[in-house]
Amino acid sequence: MAKDTVTIIDNSTGKELELPLRRSTLGPAAVDITSLYREFGYLTYDPGFMSTASCRSSITYIDGQEGILLYRGYPIEQLAEQSSYMEVVYLLLYGNLPNTQQLNDFTGSIATHTMINESLRSFYQGFHYDAHPMASLMGVVSSLSSFYPDAADIYDPEQREIAAHRLVAKIPTIAAASYKYSIGEPFVYPKNSLGYCANLLHMMFSVPAEEYVVDPIAAKALDLIFMLHLDHEQNVSTSTVRLSGSTGTNPFACIATGISALWGPAHGGANEAVLKMLEEIGDVKNIAKYIEKAKDKNDPFRLMGFGHRVYKNYDPRAKIIRKMCYEVLDKLGDPNDPMFELARKLEEVALNDEYFVSRKLYPNVDFYSGIIYRALGIPANMFTVMFAVARAPGWVAQWLEMIAEPDQRIGRPRQVYEGATTREYVPLDKR
Ligand code: CMC
Repeated sequence: MAKDTVTIIDNSTGKELELPLRRSTLGPAAVDITSLYREFGYLTYDPGFMSTASCRSSITYIDGQEGILLYRGYPIEQLAEQSSYMEVVYLLLYGNLPNTQQLNDFTGSIATHTMINESLRSFYQGFHYDAHPMASLMGVVSSLSSFYPDAADIYDPEQREIAAHRLVAKIPTIAAASYKYSIGEPFVYPKNSLGYCANLLHMMFSVPAEEYVVDPIAAKALDLIFMLHLDHEQNVSTSTVRLSGSTGTNPFACIATGISALWGPAHGGANEAVLKMLEEIGDVKNIAKYIEKAKDKNDPFRLMGFGHRVYKNYDPRAKIIRKMCYEVLDKLGDPNDPMFELARKLEEVALNDEYFVSRKLYPNVDFYSGIIYRALGIPANMFTVMFAVARAPGWVAQWLEMIAEPDQRIGRPRQVYEGATTREYVPLDKR
């Protein structure tokens, strides 16, 4: 039988080193190189972590070639068809789908934590009136650590669970407050008789002076988008949460670092970038010009919402959300909004263009989520905030898993130093 090891040979010395393989239940095995530096004095070089597993995890599995996404073993297609966001949040946090009692207890606990301390409201006044809502979301989430110092005891499982529930419960309230502040409207308190996503819509769109009824199609669409965005294994924001969490810092600070990593246009900022791009293209007649720009290597323009670091054939989430996108557009989209026609046409042109087809650059989940958000009346600068709300329980699940890991260590990558070798200091008057 083949050995469960890989042998590497240092050609300069002839020394051989047998490295153990860590087998996955699904997907490729990983060569355990933890002894490499000790035995050989070499580091590995892998910018962008193209071939590096940074941890072991039982939460999410992705097969980028086959377009597979599993949460705790369940295919995303089955969950999207039959489950709700809250059920899947429970699944990620606790490892199994809840029964009715467990789900009721869980949603009940989340509901008891939806309010934020009144003094947090004044934090918003410190932000400029046109501050990006991601900036205030990040700031306010990290400031939760000052309200819940008990959460600093991350080695107490009970404190961890309470912090997890608080984060899941409060992040929609904070996100909605960030939005309300950015448009100068009064903050709206949560209404716990509503479901998780309906409550978020209520806090974003209702005003004290008017009755507001949440559209069930909007709530259903949000529930689905949130489920699709809940976790995506060791992506940059999740890795950031794990890296900062590995120092033992409190969970609110960890989640704030995830929010900051998510903000970039190559990650969570992509859905906002899609809308900005559509606005820049402006008209169906300009599509051909922008497709050419996207193909031109000397032009920094890229087709936002196309391509994926992991999914190299298709994004399974995009397949699911595309159907919902067209349903929402038909029922709630403004028929006079030219952006929707433009998006449909761009999708069609790119899907038939040799450059995009040969590179397997398909629309990703954020191409469609941006369009749905626009149809729901959510402004572009809130898109990444919505992503952060959806992803937060995923970050929490990953953080909980990491803290409970017996051989968890501080994350400390190494580097290949290419700077000056030791040189003598030259006094100022001699330079
Ligand atoms: N427009 C034009 N060309 C592209 C694009 C694009 N959006 N994406 C990739 N390419 C080209 C790329 O230039 C390369 O061409 P060539 O082989 O001729 O050099 C080829 O396609 C392969 O791309 P890659 O460089 O291997 O892709 P990557 O894995 O480094 O980057 C990506 C993945 C998502 C950063 C990139 O596709 C991109 O910038 N897309 C637009 C931004 C976007 O929509 N991001 C959201 C991803 S989904 C949200 C999430 O899961 O976080």
